[in-house]
Amino acid sequence: MKANKPELIVDGKRLDGRGFGDLRSIKITANVLDNADGSAYIEWGGNKILAAVYGPKEVFPKHFADPTKARVKCRYSMAPFSSLEEHGRSGPNRRAIEISKVTTNVFENVIMLSEFPGSEIDVFIEVLQGDGGTRAAGITAASVALANAGIHMKDLVYAVSAGKIGEDIVIDLNKIEDNYSDCDMPMAIAPRNNDVLLLQMDGGLSKEDLKKAVSMVIEAGKKISSVQKEALKKVYTGIAEKYESNGV
Ligand code: CDP
Repeated sequence: MKANKPELIVDGKRLDGRGFGDLRSIKITANVLDNADGSAYIEWGGNKILAAVYGPKEVFPKHFADPTKARVKCRYSMAPFSSLEEHGRSGPNRRAIEISKVTTNVFENVIMLSEFPGSEIDVFIEVLQGDGGTRAAGITAASVALANAGIHMKDLVYAVSAGKIGEDIVIDLNKIEDNYSDCDMPMAIAPRNNDVLLLQMDGGLSKEDLKKAVSMVIEAGKKISSVQKEALKKVYTGIAEKYESNGV
């Protein structure tokens, strides 16, 4: 239990009015950058995050190239103006390095790496505004950006966190909930088989609570996946309409 903990649940509702299983609003727009191979912008509650993908491209430095498969490099970073907390003064901090590493692990497990031997796929996640759950929102957006770049993947990954506030299990913690919760557990899932590609835990959960949290993540995932797919569909519907209006 953290000191001076504010009351996060009042009359069965969270401070922002959500029920325990409710997600914040999620909007994704794909293909927002002209000079990236794929991109996506996500607004998830108070988070505003841009994801950009470059590749498959030449590996630099060359000796990192693997002739049997592609190399995936993810860089998560928070813009210096993304929150009121101190960060971003001199390159990546420990937290950004950790999030970049776990994000790389997620995508290494879904990208068809052997289709791009000897090449590199770069994924950049830029947090413009942070409000809790940025790694999950970043992974969700990067997944769309990778699909938008035409990178073959086994699945379209989504991520969200579940957590525990007092005795209650809740989904999609915002910043104040994240800071004062008894447990925060971000997960990334490949929905086809519900494969778990990331599970981190700040705090602890009993076996029963863990089961409940995972089922809430999977339930919320259906909504997140559909927002991701809609964002991708819109790009290609837009292209088709452009061709039609040009008489092609
Ligand atoms: O963002 P996520 O929940 O994945 O990671 P966290 O380390 O649990 O951070 C929780 C929240 O604290 C972030 O979403 C940001 O809103 C905020 N934060 C920040 O503003 N500046 C930092 N250097 C670290 C975290």
